[in-house]
Amino acid sequence: MKILVIGGGGREHALVWKLRQSPRAEEIFCAPGNAGTGTLARNLAITDHEALAEFAFEENIGLTVVGPDNALAGGIVDLFQGKGLRIFGPARSAARFEWSKIFAKDFMKRHEIPTAAFGHFSASEEAHRFCQGMRYPVVLKADGLAFGKGVVIAENSDAAAKSIYRMMDRGQFGEAGRGIVIEEFLQGTECSLHALLDGRNFLLLPGAQDYKQVFDGGLGPNTGGMGAFSPSPLLTAEMEERVRREILEPFMAGIRAEGITYQGVLYPGLMMTPAGPKVLEFNSRFGDPETQVLLPRLRTDLVDLLEAAIDGKLDQCNPEWSEMAAVCVVIASAGYPGPCETGREIFGLDKVDPDILVFHAGTALRGGSVVSAGGRVLGITALGADFEAARRRAYQAVSQIQFEGAHYRTDIAAGVDKWKSA
Ligand code: AMP
Ligand code: GLY
Repeated sequence: MKILVIGGGGREHALVWKLRQSPRAEEIFCAPGNAGTGTLARNLAITDHEALAEFAFEENIGLTVVGPDNALAGGIVDLFQGKGLRIFGPARSAARFEWSKIFAKDFMKRHEIPTAAFGHFSASEEAHRFCQGMRYPVVLKADGLAFGKGVVIAENSDAAAKSIYRMMDRGQFGEAGRGIVIEEFLQGTECSLHALLDGRNFLLLPGAQDYKQVFDGGLGPNTGGMGAFSPSPLLTAEMEERVRREILEPFMAGIRAEGITYQGVLYPGLMMTPAGPKVLEFNSRFGDPETQVLLPRLRTDLVDLLEAAIDGKLDQCNPEWSEMAAVCVVIASAGYPGPCETGREIFGLDKVDPDILVFHAGTALRGGSVVSAGGRVLGITALGADFEAARRRAYQAVSQIQFEGAHYRTDIAAGVDKWKSA
């Protein structure tokens, strides 16, 4: 079977790498891909959805896998399905759980899914009024997709008022910030949960945890994710049962009642609070870098799993996962998550031990060299018998790779083994 992967980040390199292992994968294409996907797949310089559907049709692509949220929000799944093409991912109307936070919050309220108390607003005067009655900090969120930058934690009423002004009156996020959600700040530890949905059934993947802030110790602005590990010690068997009962089952019942068909990944970002797990947001795609620690632990054929999701047969799947710990450390460009320096030659990739996974994110080929081409440049994943072993191996490889301005966190997965036995 010919397979097409849409996207060009670390998540897509991990998807291509895993799909490549399937005996069913004849040829893989990745659009637009990066220097890493180019070693396993044929990169396509196509981003237009119509042109991609045309390509898939002409090339007889048997399975398309969508990585990024904006492609889903742009209706790529609807377009492919309209041409009779098989594609993994939710239709635009189902991906709304990610592209409209207002829709997602109202849905959670209707179906009693635990989440932070909130209000949502389309007029700034009402938003200001609501903030007067809140306990600080409060969290302000642009309704739409804002490249991961649409969430602000305001420590006091001044900061909240400024954010409301920027988002709603100054149009900081354009259309995406026309409506906003204002919610209670939740204390706890975050956990990324991924489930595959096939329209009827859900299948939980193991837990993962992401490091959002750019600097060690959780300092600095939020990023797409500076590193991750899996499994998550927070998701014990008991907690998993609770998450199924309190979050996934009401979600499935809710979409059934509202006539929403959801096929693809549902990735709820959870806050584990003293009162139990609460949903921070729903994503309608694989997380990045989470995918870079989940897929290396998967023993089952990914083509079979994704096809089962498309065919409504997830109830027949029982994927196997390695017991090993996986740790991914992201190496980013100088300036990330702000404007970054790119085009820097990357050295040392050839020195890395072959059983370390070097997933490329923002990379490109220039002449015969690999150069940086984005904010997050590489994700280095290692497996180990415990987190400390995986972490040591990942950082050993990180130290062998250099480019001008490269930076990474040094505390990814630090202390997790102790935390597990605590
Ligand atoms: P979101 O895109 O909604 O997941 O928000 C991005 C990040 O902001 C989350 O991963 C959390 O770190 C933080 N965040 C969002 N909502 C809340 C909340 N209600 N309380 C505390 N932190 C939050
Ligand atoms: N790592 C967070 C995300 O993919 O949204």
